[in-house]
Amino acid sequence: MEPEQITQDGAEAPQAAGAAKKVFVKTYGCQMNVYDSQRMSDALAADGYVATSVMEEADLVLLNTCHIREKAAEKVYSELGRIRDLKAERARNGDEMLIGVAGCVAQAEGREIIRRAPAVDLVIGPQTYHRLPDALKKARGGEKVVETDYALEDKFDHLPQPRRADVINRGVTAFLTVQEGCDKFCTFCVVPYTRGSEVSRSVAQIVAEAERLAAAGVREVTLLGQNVNAWHGEGPDGSEWGLGRLLFRLAEIPGLSRLRYTTSHPRDMDDELIAAHRDLPSLMPYLHLPVQAGSDRILKAMNRKHTAADYLRLIERIRAARPDIAMSGDFIVGFPGETDADFEDTMELVRAVDYAQAFSFKYSPRPGTPGAEMDGHVAEAVKDERLQRLQALLNEQQNAFLASLVGTTIETLIEKPGRQAGQIVGRSPWLQPVILDEKAGRIGDIVSARITNTGHASLFAERA
Ligand code: SAH
Ligand code: SF4
Ligand code: F3S
Repeated sequence: MEPEQITQDGAEAPQAAGAAKKVFVKTYGCQMNVYDSQRMSDALAADGYVATSVMEEADLVLLNTCHIREKAAEKVYSELGRIRDLKAERARNGDEMLIGVAGCVAQAEGREIIRRAPAVDLVIGPQTYHRLPDALKKARGGEKVVETDYALEDKFDHLPQPRRADVINRGVTAFLTVQEGCDKFCTFCVVPYTRGSEVSRSVAQIVAEAERLAAAGVREVTLLGQNVNAWHGEGPDGSEWGLGRLLFRLAEIPGLSRLRYTTSHPRDMDDELIAAHRDLPSLMPYLHLPVQAGSDRILKAMNRKHTAADYLRLIERIRAARPDIAMSGDFIVGFPGETDADFEDTMELVRAVDYAQAFSFKYSPRPGTPGAEMDGHVAEAVKDERLQRLQALLNEQQNAFLASLVGTTIETLIEKPGRQAGQIVGRSPWLQPVILDEKAGRIGDIVSARITNTGHASLFAERA
């Protein structure tokens, strides 16, 4: 087999000069959308498209969208306004520009998108990405296409694998979706409606994909799922495996030195997964385990199905198995009915856990979710004030975590050239960028680095 051509700067060589159509993909939202954008690009590459980073020259602009909060969804419409003008400009020069909307806004709003933004040619939901080339064919024929049915077939059986050159271009870390959808129905969340019910990929599919990534030089794989620790896939012998067992299997793949998974739900952390944290050196000591709130009353109203004490006990068990594990979480302030006292419970929980990193948001009512219909919506000014206080506390904890690393030696995976000449950027076991002298190692190396100083959410280091 002939190796695929790679040009000097790492960009792929066009297959036939001038002939290839160009696609510009813009990704919003979570890591799963990043993964999906890559898989859509793979499907489009098989259809003759090459990627461009210049929107003006694109024959196809594809927005992969997020519906999680109102702001995220509205961003898409303002972007569509700008793209409409570019499309009109290209049309004046006799060139076509198709506009596609994919992702969670596509799934949630469907045809409504074309009503609000008539320049859009194609709306495609996350469960039907394997039909993208067919949908584009129709769109090129002048049809407005809306593909938001949940496909009966498994899209992963039909989506083409990335070419080796594309994997290499994407770097030494990669995402791999193992589970999609959510059956939890937290009352604030749109995901069960945009991503459908939980589906787990099989062990065989996942192992084959991970092996291909490793063979192309990927050193770190992050397993993705909306509820990744609820993954339960069919094993090679037909029995059902859990995520812990899968991690043990993936740890055997030569070259894969680092494993991660995200996002987890506190209700699905089983003993085998905790044992994986205890026994697998390649499973990074970092866990994103959202709790959302610290008040049992609010947790109940959110339908989280656990208490604050359950969460704290769970973290104790995880820390007993892996004492150096760093915790990360997600928080929502101002859920309907949240009182000052409820909010203080959240602050208390944060103090008890001591997070290395966290994400926090003001509650945003989403159409069709039970939360939006609840009484006791919290005033915006109160949400603002609570968010500020929570973020001040979380920042304090994050800075203390970074400061605690100064003087220690940590393993760093070198990922890419730094922004400044002579520098190279690695990644710590806890996901912070680590800035080193470029002589410290080559991309893909895992080197020992002594932390000399902290930056904003980053670390400076020298080769130990
Ligand atoms: N599946 C993951 C995360 C889903 S979305 C989980 O179960 O935790 C990522 C984060 O966005 C959530 O953890 C939550 O903190 C936040 N989020 C979701 N819906 C929201 C809403 N309506 N308003 C504000 N934040 C929200
Ligand atoms: Fe949303 Fe809850 Fe499902 Fe996470 S577990 S995706 S927050 S419904
Ligand atoms: Fe957003 Fe959909 Fe991810 S709503 S957070 S892109 S699952």
